[in-house]
Amino acid sequence: MSEWILGLEGLYHRLLSPRVPVIVVALRDDDKPNAMVVAWHTPVSLNPPILALSIAPDRLTHRLIEKRGEFTLNIPSPALLEKVKTVGSVSGKSYDKSTTFNFTKGTIIKTPIIDESMGAIECKLHKILEMGDHSIILGEVVAARAKSFDGIWLSSPLLHLGGTKYVKFGGL
Ligand SMILES: Cc1cc2nc3c(=O)[nH]c(=O)nc-3n(C[C@H](O)[C@H](O)[C@H](O)COP(=O)(O)O)c2cc1C
Repeated sequence: MSEWILGLEGLYHRLLSPRVPVIVVALRDDDKPNAMVVAWHTPVSLNPPILALSIAPDRLTHRLIEKRGEFTLNIPSPALLEKVKTVGSVSGKSYDKSTTFNFTKGTIIKTPIIDESMGAIECKLHKILEMGDHSIILGEVVAARAKSFDGIWLSSPLLHLGGTKYVKFGGL
């Protein structure tokens, strides 16, 4: 039997990895799309369909979601890794990220989805809860679509291990 490694409180979130990172898109004041990466997200209700994002208040996306009241989640394939790193490290406060992806119209809301993503979910803002150094942003799912969905899951999404480490889902 192997020994426990203790004292991982500061890294508790790494015990919950790998995670599927999503690219969250929200509209800027000039109506151009801004994209950031969010690894801390989860479904929270089926009926009504509500999901939660954990976003730090200093992100431009936080302000945009608050203001515009809607956002999209886009699931990147491993092929989008370099772009994930870019939009996940540079803020739209200092850099125009609107040409990083091919954006296309969603089904219900004004915020676009990313055409080259594997799946996309459109959300209307439900509520924002302040929570420590992040906010919980609850979104009501109003539309969802996928490419290559086998009825249960997406095939081979990109997985984030934490920090700068990623893996490609290989299956069992
Ligand atoms: C893999 C990965 C996961 C991330 N997950 C989160 C997250 O869950 N919440 C968050 O607030 N920031 C997260 N970030 C950081 C933001 O994506 C990053 O600060 C981004 O530049 C914010 O952009 P914005 O200021 O244009 O909104 C993550 C970054 C990476 C690379």
